[in-house]
Amino acid sequence: MFPVTVTETVEEAGTVKILRLVRTDGTPLDPYPAGAHIDVTGPTGITRPYSLCGPPDDAGAYTIAVKREEDSRGGSQALHDKVQPGDELTVGTPRQLFGLVPQAREHHLVAAGIGITPLLAMAYELHARGVEFRLHYVARERAGAAFADLIESSAFADRAVFHFGRGREATADRLATELAVLPADAHVYTCGPQDFMDQVAALATRTLPEDHVHRELFQAGTTSTGGDSFEVELDTGEVYTVPADKTIAEVLEAAGAPLDTSCREGICGTCVLRVLEGEPDHRDHCLSAKEKVAGDQIAACVSRAKSPRLVVQLW
Ligand code: FES
Repeated sequence: MFPVTVTETVEEAGTVKILRLVRTDGTPLDPYPAGAHIDVTGPTGITRPYSLCGPPDDAGAYTIAVKREEDSRGGSQALHDKVQPGDELTVGTPRQLFGLVPQAREHHLVAAGIGITPLLAMAYELHARGVEFRLHYVARERAGAAFADLIESSAFADRAVFHFGRGREATADRLATELAVLPADAHVYTCGPQDFMDQVAALATRTLPEDHVHRELFQAGTTSTGGDSFEVELDTGEVYTVPADKTIAEVLEAAGAPLDTSCREGICGTCVLRVLEGEPDHRDHCLSAKEKVAGDQIAACVSRAKSPRLVVQLW
């Protein structure tokens, strides 16, 4: 994590605040691939992941768009209410859990609401590369659709299809029609509320294999406690019991183990440990399906064990 300074804020679509961030020490920021996100620690100390959505010609800055979530723990509200140009925030280096597949012949980006942010970055990149793509943007109404004006005036406006104010059924019908005719080497990327992404994935996998459908996840949807207690053994020999009401991360932290965490919701991947023995019960959204099957990594902030003991290595 390192300090950044807010150079500009823009209110967008009523509930979204766009923040432009540069390194406080003036050094260049790391470049990032389309679809990447950063962890941002706001004024209340809450860390949340935000997709990077800045234009490619602003490589010296990170741009994030924060939707005000009334029922959140306060992270987004503090970024809305307390952060102004000149303020300092702490961010992590860009991480990519959601990215474009280089060998795909066509890319279909399907966003709902604030889920437009990583897909906007992908649209910039695909347009720059001259690759075939389509950007579907679903929102209840145009007035609440962040970046709608920007997309409409962009160089890839002809690739965008707006589904504003159509209602759930009509939107699903239209998406079903569009996604029913994709070639076998197309890939679909979706970001938005969980039920929306589930619906898009269900429609897309009527014609495409599952590994051609990619989702961004804003929130962990599973619980990190409950079930049986189990033991976690460090590769250095110490053994701890993880009770039903605690996570592996909480137990290791209480024992003074040097474990890094950030989101604590199974999203960012900061707390991932190497599993040497035992079977993880994966409850995170940061490891890929392949990594979960391999079973040699575990997100300590949310995941648990199916076996009585896990032997793990702090990296
Ligand atoms: S701290 Fe983010 S996945 Fe565990």
